[in-house]
This record gives sequence, C-alpha cells and structure tokens, in this order.
Amino acid sequence: MSASSKAAAITAPGIARHKGKPPLVCLTAYTTPVAELVDAHCDIVLVGDSVGMVMHGLSSTLGVTLDMMIMHGKAVRRGVKRALMVVDMPFGTYEESPEQAFRNAARLMAETGCAAVKLEGGEEMAETIRFLCARGIPVMGHIGLTPQAVNSLGGYRVQGRGEGAEIVRRDAAAVAEAGAFSIVLEKVPDGLGRLITEEIPVPTIGIGASAACDGQVLVTDDMLGMFTAFRPKFVKRYAELGQAADEAIAAFAREVREGRFPAAEHVFADEIPTAPRGAAV
Ligand code: KIV
Repeated sequence: MSASSKAAAITAPGIARHKGKPPLVCLTAYTTPVAELVDAHCDIVLVGDSVGMVMHGLSSTLGVTLDMMIMHGKAVRRGVKRALMVVDMPFGTYEESPEQAFRNAARLMAETGCAAVKLEGGEEMAETIRFLCARGIPVMGHIGLTPQAVNSLGGYRVQGRGEGAEIVRRDAAAVAEAGAFSIVLEKVPDGLGRLITEEIPVPTIGIGASAACDGQVLVTDDMLGMFTAFRPKFVKRYAELGQAADEAIAAFAREVREGRFPAAEHVFADEIPTAPRGAAV
C-alpha cells in the first residue's frame, strides 16, 4: 500500500488481504500532530498502550486505563485520514471474559472512532478474539513478548527460544484461526518470525521479530529519539529529536538569562505616542 497515493481509507479486511505483498508500515501515535505526521506515511496508526510509559511516565503498561486510551484515541482520530487506526485494549479490560472484552472494545470504537482494536495473548485469548470478530470488532493480535504479562514472563525477554518456539507458533495459529486480521509479533528470534509469517494466512507485523514479517511497527517516540529512558535492541533511531529538543531548550534558557531573548523582531512596535499626554507632538 503506497502511503503517498490519495487512496481511500485503509480497512482491516484490506490489511488482512495484504499478505506476501510489499511490507506494511505501522507506527504509534498518541496525539493529533503526531497522528498527522504518521498518517502521511503509514498503513496502520496504532494508539499503543505504550502511551503509559512514553507520555505518562509509568514504569510499565499495566497502569494504563480505558479512559486514557479513549482520550488519546480521540486525539489521534482527528489526525488520521487514511491509515487504519487501531487502539490497544489496556490490561484488565478484556481478559476476564469475551463479554467484558466486547463491552470495552465497543466503547473504544464508539468513543474514539477507531477501526479496530489490538489485544495481547495467544491461545488463551482465541475464544475472545472469535467473539469480538463475530460481532463487528476487527482484532489485531499481539503475541511473543506481550508487555502486559511482564510480571508472568519475568521481564521483557525474547520469547520463543528453544522449546518456547512451539508455544509461539501455536499462539499464532490460534489467533489467526480465531479471526484476527493481523498479528503483532514482538521480540522473537528471526527464524521463528519468518516461520510464523510463512505459516499463518494473515499479515504478521514485526517488532524485534524478523525482516521477513509482512510489516514492521515501532514506537514513534523511540525511532525519533524522543523516548530515551531505555533503548531496546530492535529500535533504530531515525532522528535524535530528544537531543535536538534539549539543545533548543538550553539555548532558550541561556538567552532569557542573558537578556538576549526576546529580540527586537519578537516584540511589537509601540502604537502609543512616546511623548507625554497633552504635549505638542
Ligand atoms: O503499545 C504499543 O505501542 C505496542 C507496539 C509496540 C506494538 O503494542
């Protein structure tokens, strides 16, 4: 899908059909201006629950709420014209039952205007994915490293090494079979990412997975060098905006303290006569 064409909005079924074609491009957005930037170049804009760590200073995604996702989703909706907009279901809003997942996914779709939701989990979430898909809610799966399960996984480790590969393969098959229109594959070995991409009928979107995936996703703030708290191996920095912003803020502070800002061109000309009131001008 060429992001530069003036084609109609991208749909979840359109993404599902995009298997074995030129790679899909996906980035995160949490605000309107970033959504506008990303929409111009991407097939999928993801309002990820990474928003909790990137924008709210949380130490994991576990504290992210449905209300936070709705607030950021509404902002992103105003900036996305063409890409498929997907919103993450936060921890605790879908795992209990298919009914709970439907209630909260329906709220996300109705209140943000997103076209699909993403949820984490493999075989254990298949029934829920099937329930949502059968009721008008397109679902993007997310397997491999699932950050909402960080406490059960014992950290943000690579998943699917050795015997673990079978588990991730089964997860991929179950999520695809349940009706997910695509699956995020996070932090798995290259060969496993390639194998799963060959095995399942819907596009895989890799993050720390494999160049063989049907698409790639990164957190925008990571690839722009804006989020620097930590840097996973799979992040390539395409810019150093955090450093540029630091330098700009330091320059502003210096110029204010030295009385060099504002300069003449930043202030408004006097419109009041400088001569005293009543004096002959
Ligand atoms: O929350 C997020 O941004 C994500 C992507 C990293 C895939 O789930």
